[in-house]
Amino acid sequence: MTADQVNETQFPETESALPDPLRSWSADRLSMILFGHAAFQYLNAACELGLFELLAEKGPLTGTEIRTALDLEERAGDVLLLGCAALGLIHRDGPVCRLTDEIGALMERGEWTHIVNTVAFEQHIVYEGQADFTESLRRDTNVGLRRIPGDEPGLYRRLARNPHLEEVFYRYMRSWSQLANAHLVRRLDLSHARTLLDCGGGDAVNAIALAEANPHLRVTVLDIPAAVPMAEESVRRAGLSDRITVRGHDLFTDPFPTGFDCVLFAHQLVIWTPEENTELLRKAHTALEPGGRVVVFNSMSDDTGDGPLIAALDSVYFACLPAEGGMIYPWSRHEASLGAAGFVDLRRIPLPTWTPHGILIGSKAL
Ligand SMILES: C[S@@+](CC[C@H](N)C(=O)[O-])C[C@H]1O[C@@H](n2cnc3c(N)ncnc32)[C@H](O)[C@@H]1O
Repeated sequence: MTADQVNETQFPETESALPDPLRSWSADRLSMILFGHAAFQYLNAACELGLFELLAEKGPLTGTEIRTALDLEERAGDVLLLGCAALGLIHRDGPVCRLTDEIGALMERGEWTHIVNTVAFEQHIVYEGQADFTESLRRDTNVGLRRIPGDEPGLYRRLARNPHLEEVFYRYMRSWSQLANAHLVRRLDLSHARTLLDCGGGDAVNAIALAEANPHLRVTVLDIPAAVPMAEESVRRAGLSDRITVRGHDLFTDPFPTGFDCVLFAHQLVIWTPEENTELLRKAHTALEPGGRVVVFNSMSDDTGDGPLIAALDSVYFACLPAEGGMIYPWSRHEASLGAAGFVDLRRIPLPTWTPHGILIGSKAL
C-alpha cells in the first residue's frame, strides 16, 4: 500500500465532508498569482546569471555542468533549476537541461534581448514601487515613486540623477518600442507628411524607425532636457542628424512648436491622467497644420474593462510609479480625449503583437 492509499483509508470522510475551496479555483492559477513575485525572481535570476545564454551556447547540460559554469553551490543550483524547470523556462529531462523551443526561437529572431531588457526594468525600477499599489489606489497617486531616490516630481526627472536606473530604463524603453514599432512603421502612411513631431520621444527609437522608412520626413523630438544628449547620440549613430532634431522641452509648461503634418505620442498617454492627456492633445491640435494627423501609439485595454491580461498587469506600474496617474487606458478613453481636443475621423488599428499595442489616429479638420 502506498502512502497516498493509507491516507485515503484513514481520512476518507475529512476529504469529502470538507471540500477544499481551492479545488474549485484552478490551483495553478492561484499559485501563479499568490507566488507571482517568486516566479518573476526565477526569471530574473536566470537572466542575470546567464542560464539561457549558457544553454543556448553549450546545452543540453547536466545540473552539475550548469552549476559549475554559473559558479553556484549545489543547493543554489538545485533551487534555480527546480524553479526554472517547474515554470517551463527550461526543459528538464532527468539530469539533463535544455533551452525551450520558444526561448530558442526568440533568440534566433534577435528578440530575446528585448525580454531580458524588460526583466531588468521590472527588477530594478518597477518591483519595489509596486509594493505601494494599495496605497497608490487609496491616495489616487503614485506613492511607489518614494522607492526611487531623489525628490524631483515624476520618475523621468529622477532617472537623470541615477545613471544606472536611467540606463536600465532607456534600454527597456527602446526594446519595448522595438517589439511593436515595425507595425507602426508599416501601418502609418507618412508618404504625404513632410514633418513629424515626436512628443516625449525618449532616445528617439521611434523617430529613427519612422525617418528611416520615410526618407523625405523631417522629425523633431521633444523630451525633458536630461534626455536630450542620449537621444542626440542615438540619432547621430543612426546617421540621421540632418533630418532629426532633438529639443529639450516640457510638454506641459512649454508651448509646442507649430506647422507639423503629424504629431506622435508613443508610450506617452499611458503616463498621465485623462485630463492631462486632453491637455496634451489640445496642444498637438494647435501644433498641426489643417488636415494633419495625431497618432497615439501604446498598449490599449479593451473597452469591456476585463483585459487583456498584460494591459491589467502593466497598469500597476503606471498607477504606482511614473506620474500622479496613468494606466493602460481603454481605446474609448483615448478617443474621448481626442474628441475633446477637437480631432475628427478617429481610426483604431489594433496590432498583432504579444503586447496589446495599438495605434489611434485622429485628424485636424481642413
Ligand atoms: C515611456 S517613455 C517613452 C519614450 C518613447 N516615446 C518610446 O516610445 O520609446 C516617456 C518619455 O516621456 C518623457 N517625458 C516625461 N515627461 C515629460 C515632459 N513633461 N515633457 C517632455 N517629455 C517628458 C520621458 O523623459 C520619457 O523619455
